[in-house]
Parts: sequence; C-alpha cells; structure tokens
Amino acid sequence: MFLGIDVGTGGTRAILVDRGGTVLASHSVDHAPIRSERVGWAEQSPEDWWRAAREAIAGVLREAKTAGRLDPVEAVGLTGQMHGCVLLDACGEVLRPALIWCDQRTQPQCDWLTETIGYQRLIELTANPALPNFTLTKLLWVREHEPEIFARVTHVLCPKDFVRLRLTGEYAMDLQEASGTLLLDVVHRRWSTEMAERTGIPLGWLPRLFEGPEICARISSTGATATGLAAGTPVAAGAGDQGAGAVGMGILAPGSVSATIGTSGVVFAATAKPTLDPKGRLHTFCHAAPGVWHVMGVTNGAGLSLRYLRDTFFPSRSYDEMTSSAAGIPPGSDGLLWAPYLFGERTPHLDPEARAAFVGITASTTAAHYVRSVLEGVAFSLQDSFTLFAELGIPVETIRLGGGGARSPLWRQIQADAYGHAVQILEAEEGGAFGAALLAGAGVGAWPSVEEACQAAVRPAETIEPRHAAVVARAYARYRKVYPALRQISG
Ligand code: XUL
Repeated sequence: MFLGIDVGTGGTRAILVDRGGTVLASHSVDHAPIRSERVGWAEQSPEDWWRAAREAIAGVLREAKTAGRLDPVEAVGLTGQMHGCVLLDACGEVLRPALIWCDQRTQPQCDWLTETIGYQRLIELTANPALPNFTLTKLLWVREHEPEIFARVTHVLCPKDFVRLRLTGEYAMDLQEASGTLLLDVVHRRWSTEMAERTGIPLGWLPRLFEGPEICARISSTGATATGLAAGTPVAAGAGDQGAGAVGMGILAPGSVSATIGTSGVVFAATAKPTLDPKGRLHTFCHAAPGVWHVMGVTNGAGLSLRYLRDTFFPSRSYDEMTSSAAGIPPGSDGLLWAPYLFGERTPHLDPEARAAFVGITASTTAAHYVRSVLEGVAFSLQDSFTLFAELGIPVETIRLGGGGARSPLWRQIQADAYGHAVQILEAEEGGAFGAALLAGAGVGAWPSVEEACQAAVRPAETIEPRHAAVVARAYARYRKVYPALRQISG
C-alpha cells in the first residue's frame, strides 16, 4: 500500500492506495479555521497541520486494519496547499503562524520586487511575475514588519514540507512546490541564485530540492511514534496540491488538461518545455514528473463562491439541494452573472483588489438563479484560462474534471458548455492525496515511471458533451465585460 497525505486548507486527508489504483481507506481531519486579523489576511498554524496529519495517518491506518488490510505501507507521498510560508528557527521550531496561499497583504512587496528586479527579468529568472500568493513575497513582508522574527529565521518551508520535517527530520521540497515560491529557476529546475542574492534571502534557508517521485527522506522514530507508520518507511518528495492532483488525474502529456474546482479553481496543462506567458497571467511551473513542466490558470474563489453563497444565504441547505434547484433554471441564468472575485483574482486579471459582484438582477430573479449563476460564473472564470491557452497556442485535447466541480452533474454540464468541449470524469477522483500516493509508488519502483503509474491507476468513467454551448458562449461574452466595468467603479 502507498500512503498519500494532503495537507489542504480546510483539513488534512490521508489515503491508502494499492498497485491497481484502488483507494483502500481514507481519513480526513479538519484544521482550525483560517485566522484573518484584517481583510485579505490569512494565517494558519503549522503545528495544527502536524496535529491533523498525525490524526489523519493514525486514522487511515486504523481503518485499513479494520478492513483487514494488514500489508505494510511501502512508501509515503506528500502534497498540500501551496505557497504558504513556514518560518523556522535553527531548532526547527515555528517562529510565527504561516501566511498561507490566499493571504493578499503582500502587494507592496510584489511592487518592490517588480521595481528592484524588473518585470521581464523576474519572468526570465522564475518564469512568473511577483504575485501576493507566492512564498517569497510573504517572507519579505515578515522582514519588513517583524524584523525581530525575521532575524531568527533559519529555514523556510511550504506547508506539506513542514509536515515532512516532523515526520522525518529532513528539510526537503519538490520542484513543483518550489516553483510557487518565486525563488526557483523554473527553466533549469534549481534554486535561483540571482533571486536569492537580489532579495537578500540566504540560499541556505531553502531546503534541498527533489523531483516529485524521488525518495528524499524516511520516517524517523519520532515520526513513527506519532503516527503508527514504521520507522524507515521511504518518503517521496511529492508535489503541491495542483501538481499531485494533476498526476492523480493522469495529466502528464501535452494536450491533456484538467479543470479542478476546489476552494480555488485551476485549469492545468502539462507541457514538454516551460511555456511562458509574457504577461504573467498563467503560472509556469515544473511538473511533478521529471522533465515535464505545466502551466496553470488560477481562480482564487471557485468552490469558495458556492460555499460563500450557502453560508451567507442558505445555511440550512446542502450543496445537492442548492444545485438541484439550479437545474431548473435555463443555461445563461436568464442574464444573471456572477464575477467570483471574493479573494481578488489571479488569472487572468492579476488583481488582488478585484471584488465579486452579481450583475443583471431583476424582480424575477429567484434564489435558484443565484445558485446557477454562481456555478456558471466560476466556470466562466476557468474558461478565461482556456481563452489564454488558445492565445498562447497551448493544446487542449482532453479535459478532465476534478474536485467539487466534477462531483455535481449540473456543474459538469455547465463546464462542458462553458468550455465548448467534451469533459471527462474519472472513476476515482481523489484529489492530490491520490497523486501523492502514486508518486510514492513510482518512487519505490512499484511502477517504472510516473506515466506508468497513471496508466495503471487512472481510469476515465464518463464523457460529457456540451449541450448548450451557443447560449452559454453568449453569456460568457457578457461575462467578459464585467471585470473591466467593475474595475472602473472599484475604490
Ligand atoms: C495554487 C494555489 C492553490 C493552493 C490551495 O497555486 O494557490 O491551489 O495550493 O489549494
């Protein structure tokens, strides 16, 4: 069995997968809520991730045992929310809560980076522009605002790599995750000495780098006591949640693309070489498989939009009840549009100040219209990434759906219509944890490569064809006009 651990935003999930790709057991444990002292701030406690990881691993091992699966865990793979900045002292103790991926406070640090290094040079060095989500900008915020904490920093890690440290005692990071720090030379798959020098961040603070399936550490005796895993179990480098999620969906060859709606929404394409967007609207990262890169467009508030709608207006209704009411509303939501900029926006606007809006309300607009327009608005926002793919000549042959957007039949159809392209769902779509387990298996040679792991374990279940593409395309054309209008009236 291979163990995949996903240190997500809402919680940590551990799953056990066999060589045929069957999920044998899974166990999830919630994190404490995100702390947001000010608008746009988002912090979590790394020790809370470690607590959740310990409980999730112990839980999944217990469940496997109850189900009679006594085979040993052959390898562990890690994945998790990307970009978060975990600051540690020389003893590996956490210095402050981590600023996580959706924290938006670092625009001034982004502006400083762009001025100091130059926009084009930043893209040449790291393949990406400075965005508030990226780790380096968070590190620079701490340097500016909390110099006494910064003075004690000895190590910088991302969330799942902190859990790895607690499990194994090793400081390590995979290249896909490292791509989201803004300190990686993405083209050459190594830390960027020039970025480190020009920003004054010692290279020695950064962990050793590995390809996703590489075995980079082993469970320590402390890690074993805390979780029930055997000491010495190999641990693969893994990948950030988007990289591992893509592996779990078999997105490794050019032409294969995924559209995943979790809290954020991501359109992800594998590429044979680094493909740069000169305007920096797509992220260009190393993929979790050696010698492969990827581009991705990110909507900050995708699944978050539906959760926001439910929590604010329909607290007693389930997502299923909400989406079945929306199924009765015609495609295009009778003109109601949702711009999903609850957390600002990354692709394509790169605007942390963007704000969400409903547009086109009439006296006939019902509660169900709001639900449908949120589902459509999120799909339109992902379609913006497909529009950029077309602009940059990135091929799209198959589209596989993941996350909450793959589980709801209505949202699947809305996506097929919005993308104007058939979409596939998979037999087992288990998110990043599944991909992390496959990377672990490939790391110990259960499959000769990540590609072969995917061939053995990832199976399409159904294809959904577009049915209302023309009417939905007209609604998308109106949606494209919403952001520029919002921009004009934003404070
Ligand atoms: C990817 C991203 C999110 C987080 C949280 O760039 O910011 O997907 O990893 O899931």
